[in-house]
Amino acid sequence: MRFLLLFFALLALALADLFTAIADMEHMLGAEKDVMGVIDQYIEAERERLNKLRNFADEYSKRNAHAEEVGPEFVTNPINAYLLIKRLTSEWKKVEDIMRNNAAEKYIKNITQNRVNSQVRFPQEEDLSGAATALLRLQDTYKLDTHDLAHGVIDGEKVGKPLTAHDIFEVGRAAYNQRDYYHTLSWMQVAMNKLENEEPKSMEESEILEYLAYSLYQQGNVRRALNLTKRLAQIAPNHPRAKGNVKWYEDMLQGKDMEGELPPIVNKRVENDGIVERDAYEALCRGEIPPPEPEHAKKLRCYLKRDKPFLKLAPIKVEILRFDPLAVLFKDVVSDEEIEVVKELATPKLKRATVQNSKTGELEHATYRISKSAWLKGEEHPVVARINRRIEDFTNLNQATSEELQIANYGLGGHYDPHFDFARKEEKNAFKSLNTGNRIATVLFYMSQPERGGATVFNHLGTAVFPSKNDALFWYNLRRNGDGDLRTRHAACPVLMGVKWVSNKWIHERGQEFTRPCGLDENVQENFVGDLSPYENSP
Ligand SMILES: *[C@@H]1O[C@H](CO)[C@@H](O)[C@H](O)[C@H]1NC(C)=O
Ligand SMILES: *[C@@H]1O[C@H](CO)[C@@H](O)[C@H](O)[C@H]1NC(C)=O
Repeated sequence: MRFLLLFFALLALALADLFTAIADMEHMLGAEKDVMGVIDQYIEAERERLNKLRNFADEYSKRNAHAEEVGPEFVTNPINAYLLIKRLTSEWKKVEDIMRNNAAEKYIKNITQNRVNSQVRFPQEEDLSGAATALLRLQDTYKLDTHDLAHGVIDGEKVGKPLTAHDIFEVGRAAYNQRDYYHTLSWMQVAMNKLENEEPKSMEESEILEYLAYSLYQQGNVRRALNLTKRLAQIAPNHPRAKGNVKWYEDMLQGKDMEGELPPIVNKRVENDGIVERDAYEALCRGEIPPPEPEHAKKLRCYLKRDKPFLKLAPIKVEILRFDPLAVLFKDVVSDEEIEVVKELATPKLKRATVQNSKTGELEHATYRISKSAWLKGEEHPVVARINRRIEDFTNLNQATSEELQIANYGLGGHYDPHFDFARKEEKNAFKSLNTGNRIATVLFYMSQPERGGATVFNHLGTAVFPSKNDALFWYNLRRNGDGDLRTRHAACPVLMGVKWVSNKWIHERGQEFTRPCGLDENVQENFVGDLSPYENSP
């Protein structure tokens, strides 16, 4: 193919992990301060260096003026001849050294490499594309308008400064690098509009034109692509690809449809990421929840859990969110103080979250799970041990075989696409080494209150749970007969504004022979947490 375009930047998202946790983003403000300081230091050092050069220049000029005064016979004097030659050799060498001795490298290294006291490395190109991709994800999930975002507006509220044409362009470029021409077109168009009225201009029009034309073409607007590429060829006659591309588009149109008004722009979002349930998932994230069936709604209720001796004094408030499969919210089961301790313990351990490859069983990074997480053992701190005991109290499930407490902090657009917590039949090796059976149930503590977004959604069930700090969401992943309950497929919606901290506990099958007796009928479901009927009559 003769048609050439810019290089696709190869995305190394696995390396980019600054944007994966808000905790890290906060450190980056510190990095920005360091940059300010180092620029000041550098300017100071350069000023001194340039002053030295200025002195040399003055000296040269004085002596030269004297020589001119004397006239051509100046050099007939051997001392003058010697001095002139010296000025142009050994002295010039000094000048050369000063001119070359730009300290830039030293200062640049100080910022990008020697960040010894810093908990995060300096952001890289991949972090920029990661952050831009996060913006695109938020835009899709929450139906945010490109024009609004570019003006610092989210959901009708001004939350930041307007972006420059170049800021907008970089988001479009991130989309382009992922061959996502729907977003490329949308952002490049807004960048172009912005540039028109911008003074001083943050970039050249020609830079946008090529991306805009290509995305127009990819989205089926060939005549507009040709029109803009012609303009590019006009304003940048030496552009390496413009003329070739004009011909390429002309050949494609074969003289058809070349005259008259340009047709309106077409820009359809293409679903090519393989997530078939995306529409339903995104609608739930936005809080567009299908109304529950009336029968169902009637039964929903709150109750006080008092089925253990000491709970009689301090019962736990349980809100039933749905039945069949059951999902409940335990209210106020972790205190602000406990949350602070857990966050403090987890922060230094946060690592980019991994997922288990279903074929190999290996843990790996994945773009569909963007967060940082850490594991905490009960022995590490009395607060962790206390939380683990409390889980046993409110779930009635034996904690001896549970996994450690996992803490997660979601970053920019951080999310976890729809998944199951349990291992499916084909994932035979998933929990083999633990020898504790499958994940029978999940407890998910909400440890912060994001301002917007970040819901936990069960996309097959049409259930969305918006985080409420201090509460814990609970559901059974397995049916009574031990089969995975496919209806529990769930996702963590991207965080739109604010910070999302959660911790979760995965409870395993082994050890639950009496706490959740196995039954052959897969349709037997709990009506409340710890419901043992029909296996035993219990309150
Ligand atoms: C490097 O940066 C640190 C902190 O920003 C500063 O204190 C130090 O003087 C810098 N060193 C150089 C060589 O610029
Ligand atoms: C592109 O289209 C506009 C609007 O129809 C038109 O005014 C302009 O002359 C066209 N540019 C080129 C280079 O054909």
